[in-house]
Amino acid sequence: MAEHGHDSDVDAQHHCTHSHNHVSPNPHGSPQIHEGQHGFKEFNKNYFDEHGHRYNDHPDAHELARRLGVAMINAYTFNEDSTLVLDYACGTGLISRNLAAHAKCIVGADISQVMVDQYNQSVFNQGIPPEEMRAVCCDLTVAGPNQLDGMKFDVVVCASAYHHIPSIEDVTKALASYLKPGGSLLVTDIMKPSSAESAQALLPTEEAHINIIAHTGGFEEAVIKAVFEGAGLINFSFVTACKAKRNGHPVQFFLASGTKEVTEEA
Ligand SMILES: C[S@@+](CC[C@H](N)C(=O)[O-])C[C@H]1O[C@@H](n2cnc3c(N)ncnc32)[C@H](O)[C@@H]1O
Repeated sequence: MAEHGHDSDVDAQHHCTHSHNHVSPNPHGSPQIHEGQHGFKEFNKNYFDEHGHRYNDHPDAHELARRLGVAMINAYTFNEDSTLVLDYACGTGLISRNLAAHAKCIVGADISQVMVDQYNQSVFNQGIPPEEMRAVCCDLTVAGPNQLDGMKFDVVVCASAYHHIPSIEDVTKALASYLKPGGSLLVTDIMKPSSAESAQALLPTEEAHINIIAHTGGFEEAVIKAVFEGAGLINFSFVTACKAKRNGHPVQFFLASGTKEVTEEA
């Protein structure tokens, strides 16, 4: 298995970073949503409810999650005795699994009940008690800040999901609201490729993915920086987390991080 820092390209095909017939490729990398935006949530929920049971069958999904997990561990000082983690759009728990040994407790959240059920089944199969790791089915952008039993987290992670979510502004604000003062938000997704050829690789390949991708073509640093700052996060950083291949072309995953300011009242 490839070592961190010398990774061969993992295939990110399973991440279905396609465009579809309601969203045009965005040459500037900025959020660009068309009339179908209100349907994205339902389409994603239905898609992952229908196909989620096969998500863990992709060997590259596990390897990508491992590499993204390593990047997160490098970006934040986890403490296995104290760190509380929220894994948003947690899917089947591939990212949580890579963080588990470094955290006291991980709560996953996702809009697909099928993904959440797989997450919890896998936790159960590993003999991990739900107090240490569990997932719930919910949309934190709708539910308000007091979902999750009023819990606040040291670190909130969100991997490979921003391209599915129409308003990355709203989700970033919602995720920031679950941070303790001084806590960090870590977001990873595909970076906008610099070559036209690689950008082409993000175009649709499967009809089945129609309507589930709100953002095509990867994200630019400036766009992610603006939404982090809009959510009141400071100390923004944006690094390459790992390389991947998409339709045979190289793409990169970024890891963005920002910190919730410690105010006098906190
Ligand atoms: C490509 S999977 C990534 C799963 C996991 N983060 C990982 O890296 O293995 C995308 C996940 O985002 C979830 N998702 C899509 N739209 C969402 C939304 N609006 N709110 C929360 N989760 C969403 C899907 O249900 C799916 O589990």
